[in-house]
Amino acid sequence: MSDPKEAAKRLVGFAAVDRYVQAGMCVGLGTGTTAYWAIKRTGERVAAGEKLEAVVTSAATEKLCVEFGVPVIPFMSRDIDVAIDGADEVAPDWSLTKGGGGALFREKAIAIAARRFIVIVDDSKVVDQLGRFPTPVEVVPFTLSWVQRQIADQFPTAKTTERVRDGRPYRTDNGNAILDCAFGSIPDPRGVDAVLKAIHGVLDVGLFFDLAHAVLCTADQGVGELVKA
Ligand code: A5P
Repeated sequence: MSDPKEAAKRLVGFAAVDRYVQAGMCVGLGTGTTAYWAIKRTGERVAAGEKLEAVVTSAATEKLCVEFGVPVIPFMSRDIDVAIDGADEVAPDWSLTKGGGGALFREKAIAIAARRFIVIVDDSKVVDQLGRFPTPVEVVPFTLSWVQRQIADQFPTAKTTERVRDGRPYRTDNGNAILDCAFGSIPDPRGVDAVLKAIHGVLDVGLFFDLAHAVLCTADQGVGELVKA
């Protein structure tokens, strides 16, 4: 593979499935260009004869599962043994920014429900403090202007942008809008999360805490596990 970044994503996606997925398991499969490789690897394992089932974090991931031959079952129709997903940022305490692909709500549901949640990233995602990547906030469309005004009141220096795709307002699989909120460096992500969640109309915030059981990250052509600070 000629693109080193794509090769890194493939390496870490494959490693997560090979280290954490065993025959018979129900696997939560994430969304995005890194999770893509975990989905592909799961498909290879199914094709090799292993009985695996998946719950999916997005319609896009469900489509990939169909393409790769991974059986998809409804969320919580059985316990999820392990969930594997990418992230937009990982802080030293393993708090995460997620939702760059718009799937944050279902990703969080599956991460919370899974016995183990494994995060897969290349080393470009590792940061000292969250906030370099704008925080995705999922908002019920009717309340968009209200939520934007509330965020401007609470965080006067933040820049909020409604996500647009193909020239049209982006909609999540839940039919909601995404506000990408550039706060700058976030020294207190839990505080920011609490303030945002308290605004009527906010469904979810792409800040994840205390959910990861391991963070796999590419390093020196291999895959290591980040140590939690
Ligand atoms: C999807 O909504 C996100 O949470 C992704 O997991 C995140 O954006 C990482 O995506 P990439 O692996 O494509 O960078």
